[in-house]
Amino acid sequence: MGRLKSPGEVTKFRQEILSKRDSNTPCISVCVGTGCLASGASEVLAAFKTEIAKQGLNAEVDTKGTGCPGFCERGPVVVIYPEEICYLQVTPGDVPEIITRTIKEKKVVDRLLYVDPNSGEKVTHESEIPFYKHQKRNVIGNNIKIDSQSIDDYLAVGGYSALVKALTQMTDEQVLAEVKKSNLRGRGGGGFPAGRKWEGSRKAPEKIKYVLVNADEGDPGAFMDRALLEGNPHSVLEGLVIGAYAVGSHQGYVYVRQEYPLAVKNINLAIQQAEEYGFLGENILGTGFDFTVKVHKGAGAFVCGESTALMTALEGRVGEPRPKYIRSNIRGLWNRPTVLNNVETWANVPLIIDKGADWFTRLGTEGSKGTKIFSLVGKITNTGLVEVPMGITLKDIIYKIGGGIPGGKKFKAVQTGGPSGGCIPGELLDLPVDFDELTKAGSMMGSGGMIVMDEDTCMVDVARYFIHFLTDESCGKCLPCREGLRQMDRILTHITEGKGKEGDIAILEELSETAVEASLCALGKTAPNPFLSTIRYFRDEYEAHIKEKRCPALSCKALISYYIDPDKCQACMICLKKCPVEAIDGGKKKIHIINQEKCTRCGTCIEVCPTRFGAVKKISGEPVPSPIPEEERMIDRKVKKNE
Ligand SMILES: Cc1cc2nc3c(=O)[nH]c(=O)nc-3n(C[C@H](O)[C@H](O)[C@H](O)COP(=O)(O)O)c2cc1C
Ligand code: FES
Repeated sequence: MGRLKSPGEVTKFRQEILSKRDSNTPCISVCVGTGCLASGASEVLAAFKTEIAKQGLNAEVDTKGTGCPGFCERGPVVVIYPEEICYLQVTPGDVPEIITRTIKEKKVVDRLLYVDPNSGEKVTHESEIPFYKHQKRNVIGNNIKIDSQSIDDYLAVGGYSALVKALTQMTDEQVLAEVKKSNLRGRGGGGFPAGRKWEGSRKAPEKIKYVLVNADEGDPGAFMDRALLEGNPHSVLEGLVIGAYAVGSHQGYVYVRQEYPLAVKNINLAIQQAEEYGFLGENILGTGFDFTVKVHKGAGAFVCGESTALMTALEGRVGEPRPKYIRSNIRGLWNRPTVLNNVETWANVPLIIDKGADWFTRLGTEGSKGTKIFSLVGKITNTGLVEVPMGITLKDIIYKIGGGIPGGKKFKAVQTGGPSGGCIPGELLDLPVDFDELTKAGSMMGSGGMIVMDEDTCMVDVARYFIHFLTDESCGKCLPCREGLRQMDRILTHITEGKGKEGDIAILEELSETAVEASLCALGKTAPNPFLSTIRYFRDEYEAHIKEKRCPALSCKALISYYIDPDKCQACMICLKKCPVEAIDGGKKKIHIINQEKCTRCGTCIEVCPTRFGAVKKISGEPVPSPIPEEERMIDRKVKKNE
């Protein structure tokens, strides 16, 4: 395929692609995103190809390896079009049955369907699965429909039509005006309006300007940018070219961490294909606009996602933040005007240009328009990527989409915004999720991490965990962040180990204030959030740890003990055999006792003690009851074998 030289050639070529495709031909889409690959998706796809050939169906059935639709936990995910039948956790062994039953006999393989954990009902179609039903998948929705390594697939779903429109029917000012009107706010961190950032660069007098994609995605547990870059790289690229046109830039970079090999591969391939088709390079679509893109692989430090650190790393130096006396959109990469936006921000741009700012602003709240992709993880029934309209409540995300908290446990808090986000408590479950409301609640949108916590989670330990992560990731350039976080980490660790002292909370508050006020970059400025939000909503837990040496969630190892209730112990030997450090003494018909000196508080005994006995107890802040006298330990309770 040579370069397409005009909008007319693009339209003709798109029609050619579509004319070769029959929408009624069954197409088996197998997700080959990183999550599903890890659970065997490439073997499943290969098995489909082999089985289709074996049954002589090559001319009648298509197969596709696609991007991630977000439900990785139930992968490998297979969706069969046009009916949109969704099978989960498919193995190569299931393939012959799917071909025979679903493709040939038009029947559904029941055992591979999603089962609603509450009603026990089986759900056939992807869009009816509760996980998907309440989402609005404007940005990520095409992932399961297209082969992410095929530009033709992207063109077939309307890809690059926004670029054609921008370059041939709109002036650069009009493109900028449309993005400003949409009030698209950055999806990667602070939610800065993209249009305003672009305008600053556009107006800057220097001729050479850059546009960058931030695909560093350092937040632990977050993978929405990876899913987009792997699953629909052309959508990000198309947004980038449109942005470059509006800003007046001719060179772009995609900064992607090298721990994302598939994303690196797919974006490189997409660039190569876009160059070949004439959507990149010189004189794009005959309009005279030139633009090229290069990929830069980052070494994977969390701080390199910060705008100035990212630019320093791109310049070939150690990725450390620098002071922002002048904004990066005016003086950024190599001191030139530079627009840096997140992967998801760029992927929204073609939709805004194609469908218009009015369409985009129909969804969302006053200050936050459109949708946002979240990575929903933690103590929740359905985990994965969810794309929802801004303004949806936390409750709807957690209960309608996430399916609630497993094991009948109580919801305690949700941590949003990545490591330097904050924890939002149960009282605020009706909070509409948007940039401003999350900030008001002491957290932030960040790039869209959402970790759900249940009653067994200790909020002091959560703060300790994130502050520890940020201490490790601090580049060490400025003192409030380097030393302040280290001290916060030390004090929080002491508190969770039962060594907390009166006055610790005040010191933590003081260190937080200094880090917020005086750190060089937003890593240090936001790092105290995990402490500040948990002290705001869960102060009683801090006080219990410090004053009573008690962990109310029964989670901090140094503050808990396990003991076996002699009245309930059936001397069944299960815990005794499973204890990895042989800390349990007892025998057949001899009540078991935990040796507190040897016990490492791993919790194996409580996990394996049959629930009908419930003999192992976990306690905190109270002394372990004295063991019963040796002469009273022999019992004559009969334990039925099959119980
Ligand atoms: C420590 C730190 C890490 C960050 N990591 C990322 C990241 O991985 N991806 C990202 O898009 N933005 C990240 N950001 C935010 C960026 O600095 C920047 O605001 C963002 O890329 C701008 O794009 P947006 O306006 O489209 O969100 C990080 C910020 C900080 C302070
Ligand atoms: S990788 Fe397959 S559903 Fe996410």
